[in-house]
Amino acid sequence: MPHRDTLAHLSRLYAASEDPWNHRSSPYEAAKFRETLSAIGPGPFREALEIGCGNGELARRLAPRCRRLTAMDCIPAAAAAARRILAGFSQATVLQGCAPDDLPDIRPDLVLLSEVLYFLTPLEISTLGGWLNRNAAGPVVAVNWTGPTDERLNGAEAVGLLGQTLIMAQTRHFPRFRLDVLWPVQSSIRPR
Ligand SMILES: C[S@@+](CC[C@H](N)C(=O)[O-])C[C@H]1O[C@@H](n2cnc3c(N)ncnc32)[C@H](O)[C@@H]1O
Repeated sequence: MPHRDTLAHLSRLYAASEDPWNHRSSPYEAAKFRETLSAIGPGPFREALEIGCGNGELARRLAPRCRRLTAMDCIPAAAAAARRILAGFSQATVLQGCAPDDLPDIRPDLVLLSEVLYFLTPLEISTLGGWLNRNAAGPVVAVNWTGPTDERLNGAEAVGLLGQTLIMAQTRHFPRFRLDVLWPVQSSIRPR
C-alpha cells in the first residue's frame, strides 16, 4: 500500500480535477505519449497492462494495439474517468487497485509504467519487480519525469530501483523525461 500521504495527495488532486496533470491538453504530454507509443511499437499485444493509468489518456492511445488491455489506478476517481474514456474499447478493462498489492492474475506481454513508479515506496518497487519477473512475458516500459517530484523518490531513483530486479535493456533521455525499457530476468523472448 502506498504511503498514506501519497494516497491522500493523489485523492486531493483528483477531487480538484479529473485531469490533474493536463494529460488531455498539454503539448508536452502529447509529445511524451508519442515517444512512448513509438518505443512500444505497433503490437499487437496479446495482453497489455498499464499500472497507474490515471484518467486513461495514454491507455486509450494504447488500446488499439492490444488484444486485451488492463489499466489500473489506485484512485477511484481516476479509475472511473479511465473507464469512461475506454468505454468504446471492448478489449480494455479498468481496475481500481494499488500496485503491487492488487495486481491482477495475468501474464502481460507488455507492461507500461508511465509516471507512476515514484509514487511507490522502495519496498513496493522491489515487490513489483518480483511480480514482473514472475508474470511478465515481454518488455516493461517505464516513463519518468526527470525533474523533482513531490514524492520521496524522483524518477531516476525509482526506475533505478526497478532496474535492481529486472534487466535494464535501454534508456533514452528526452527533454524533461526519460524512457527505460526493462525485461524480466526469465523472459525467453528478450532481444539480445
Ligand atoms: C501522473 S499519473 C500518470 C497517468 C498515465 N500513466 C500517464 O502517464 O499519462 C500517475 C497515476 O498513477 C496512479 N498511482 C500512483 N500510485 C499507484 C499505485 N501504487 N498503484 C496504482 N496506481 C497508482 C495515480 O493515482 C495517478 O493516477
